[in-house]
Amino acid sequence: MSPIRAGTALPTSPPDSGDFEKTVRDWREFDRKTEATEYQGVAIYRNEFWTSKQRAGHPLHEISYRACFKPQLPGFFIDRLTQEGEAVFDPFMGRGTTVLEARLKGRRAMGSDINPLSRILLNPRLTPPSIDAIGARIKAIDFSAPTQTPDELLVFYHPDTLRQICALREYLLGKTSAGTLDNVDEWIRMVAVNRLSGHSSGFFSVYSLPPNQAVSLKAQARINTRRKQTPPSRNVPTLILKKSRSLLRHPPPPEMATSPLLFNAPSHNIPEIENASVSLVVTSPPFLDVVDYQGDNWLRGWFCGIDMAAIPVANHRSIDDWTDFTRQTFQELARITRPGGHVAFEVGEVRGGKVALEETVLKAVQGLAFRPVLVLINDQKFTKTANCWGVANNSKGTNTNRIVLLQKT
Ligand SMILES: C[S@@+](CC[C@H](N)C(=O)[O-])C[C@H]1O[C@@H](n2cnc3c(N)ncnc32)[C@H](O)[C@@H]1O
Repeated sequence: MSPIRAGTALPTSPPDSGDFEKTVRDWREFDRKTEATEYQGVAIYRNEFWTSKQRAGHPLHEISYRACFKPQLPGFFIDRLTQEGEAVFDPFMGRGTTVLEARLKGRRAMGSDINPLSRILLNPRLTPPSIDAIGARIKAIDFSAPTQTPDELLVFYHPDTLRQICALREYLLGKTSAGTLDNVDEWIRMVAVNRLSGHSSGFFSVYSLPPNQAVSLKAQARINTRRKQTPPSRNVPTLILKKSRSLLRHPPPPEMATSPLLFNAPSHNIPEIENASVSLVVTSPPFLDVVDYQGDNWLRGWFCGIDMAAIPVANHRSIDDWTDFTRQTFQELARITRPGGHVAFEVGEVRGGKVALEETVLKAVQGLAFRPVLVLINDQKFTKTANCWGVANNSKGTNTNRIVLLQKT
C-alpha cells in the first residue's frame, strides 16, 4: 500500500489548544462548574463533558466490544481540534469508535489494531450496504447444510441454531479464502459476530454474559445449570436482518473523496502511515492487564477463523512495562502527527482508582516531541445501559474517563 497524504483540507486557521482549554475551563453544559487542579504544572480539569445517554450516538456505533469508549468521547475532541477533511487516527481502534465518529463527521478516518477482529467489526460500517442488498444476500445463503457442527458449542446454541451459524461460517470462510468476500458479506459477518452470544433473545445463544465477553464452555455450562436453562432455537438470518435494520436506521456517513485507511499492526510500528500526516489521535490503549482481549473474543475468533491465542495483544502486569509500551507508541505517534496536531490519550480507571495512569502517561512522553496541554477527566453517572455496552461501572455507579491531551511540537 502506498503511503498516505495528509487530509485534503487543512484548516485555514488551525484549531488552537488555548481555545480548547478555555472551553473546558468554562464548561457548564450539565450545570456543573469545572474543577481545576494540577499535576507537576499540567492543569487537570474535571466535569461532565459529554452525556452518558447511549442514544445520543449514531446507531452505527451500536455494536459491543470490551472496553470500548462512547462516541461522544472522540466526538468532543474531533469537533474542537480538527476541521473537515483532516486525518483522525486511532492506533488501538477496537470496535472503531474514533474512526467511525471521524468518518461521520467528514474527517479522514484512519485506524489500526493488533487484532484483525477490529477491521472485521469496523470496515463494513464505514461504508454500509443498503438493507435491500443485505436482505437479498441473506436469502441467497444456504443456512441449512454445514459440513461440521462442533458439539461442544451446544452449551450456547440449540442444534438448529448451531447448524445455521456453522453454515454461515463456512460460507464466509469459503468466500474469504476464494478472495470473493464483498462489502455485503462483510456486513453480514460483522452483525453475526455481534449476535454470537449475549443476554437477550436478540442473540443466537441462550442467556449468557453481555456480548462483549464470551464465557468459556465450562462457565456457560455452569450458567445453564444455575439458571436451569437449555438453549432455545433462534433464527440466525432473521436476527441478522433485525440488527441490520437497527444499525442502519439513520443516514450513513457522508460521501468523501478520500477513503478510510485501516491497518492491522502493533501501535509502535505502522510504516504505511506517512510522516506528519495525522491531525488528531484519539485513542485508548489496553490498561495494564485489566482486560483479557484474547479470552473475551474467543468465540468471535472461532467464527472468523482467527487464532486469538496467537495475537500479541499488549497485557502488562507492571507499571514499568506499561510505561515502556506507552512510550514506544508515542514515538510512533510523534512521527505521524503533524506539528501543532494533538493526541488525546484515554486511560480510564485501573486498580480501583489507586493507580493514576494519566501521571504515568505524562512521564512516558518526557523528552518526546509533545507538549502536555491538559488532563481532562470526564466524570459522570452511568446508566445500566452503559454497562452492558462494555463500560465497567465502579461500585458507586460513577466512573471516569481520564484523557491526557498533548500537542505535537
Ligand atoms: C481499550 S481497547 C480500545 C477500544 C476502542 N477505543 C473502542 O472504542 O472500541 C484497546 C485495544 O488495543 C488493542 N491492542 C492491544 N495491544 C495492542 C498493540 N500492541 N498494538 C495495537 N493494538 C493493540 C486491543 O486489541 C484492543 O482492541
